[in-house]
Amino acid sequence: MDNLPSRKTVLRAALAAGVAVPAAIVAVPALARTTTGTPPLTPACDDGDDPTPPQMEGPYFKPNSPRRNSLVQPGTAGTPLKVTGYVFGLKCLPLSNVLLDFWQADNNGAYDNVGYRFRGHQFTDAQGAFSLTTIVPGLYPGRTRHIHVKVQAPNRPVLTTQLYFPGEPRNNTDALFDPRLLMTVRNVGGGREAAFDFVLNVPQNPPTTTPPPGSGTWAAGTAYTAGARVTYSGLGYVCLQTHTAQQGWEPPSAPSLWRAE
Ligand SMILES: [Fe+2]
Repeated sequence: MDNLPSRKTVLRAALAAGVAVPAAIVAVPALARTTTGTPPLTPACDDGDDPTPPQMEGPYFKPNSPRRNSLVQPGTAGTPLKVTGYVFGLKCLPLSNVLLDFWQADNNGAYDNVGYRFRGHQFTDAQGAFSLTTIVPGLYPGRTRHIHVKVQAPNRPVLTTQLYFPGEPRNNTDALFDPRLLMTVRNVGGGREAAFDFVLNVPQNPPTTTPPPGSGTWAAGTAYTAGARVTYSGLGYVCLQTHTAQQGWEPPSAPSLWRAE
C-alpha cells in the first residue's frame, strides 16, 4: 500500500469542490485525447478502485421502502450520522440516477420489520452523489456495527452490500466484516459524518466509432451553455455544465455534462 491518493479519491475531492467539478473531470481525459493521435480510454481504475464487494443481504431487507434522504424522525434516539459519497463506474466516472436503498438497526439494535423506520431509498444526483441522514445503528448480537444497502445503476444488476465503521471492537470478530467496506468517519459536534464511495461493475467505455452525421444536433467543437438542449442518437439531453463538446464526451458518455430528458 502506498500513500498516493487513488484516482477515485482525487475525483471525489474534485467533485466535493463543487461548481468546477465537471470541468475538472473533463479536463484530464480531454487533454489526453488532444495530445495523442488516437483517443485513449480514460485511465482504468487499476489503483485500488475495484468494484465494491458484495455482502449477504441478511434477514431484514424489505422492499418498497419510502423515497427519502433522511431516516430521522422527530424524537429519534441515537447519535446523528450523515453518510455522503459518490457512485462510480469502472472508469471512475460518476453515475447519476443510481438507486440506493438503505436499511439499518435503530439505536437499540432492532430492525423495524413491521413498518419502515430506518429504511429508505434515494437516487444519485447528476454528479453521482448521495447523502443519507440517519443515526449510528445500534449493535445486536452476533454482528459488528453496520448499515445495509442495495445499489443499482439503471438497467444493471443490484449490488447488495454493507458498510462498516472503523474502530469498532467487534470488527475483529464478525466473520462478515470486510475492511474494503469501511466508511471514513469523523466526529462532528455531537454526531458523526461518514463518507463512502461505491464503484459499480458498470462499463464506461467511450464510443469507439464516430456517430454518423445527422444522428442528432450534438456536435464536437460546439460551445454549449448550461440548459442547452441537444439530441443524440434519437434521445434528448440537457446541458448541465457550460463546456465545449469533444469527441469521447458525447451526451450518453458524460452524465456530469448531460442529463437525458
Ligand atoms: Fe444487519
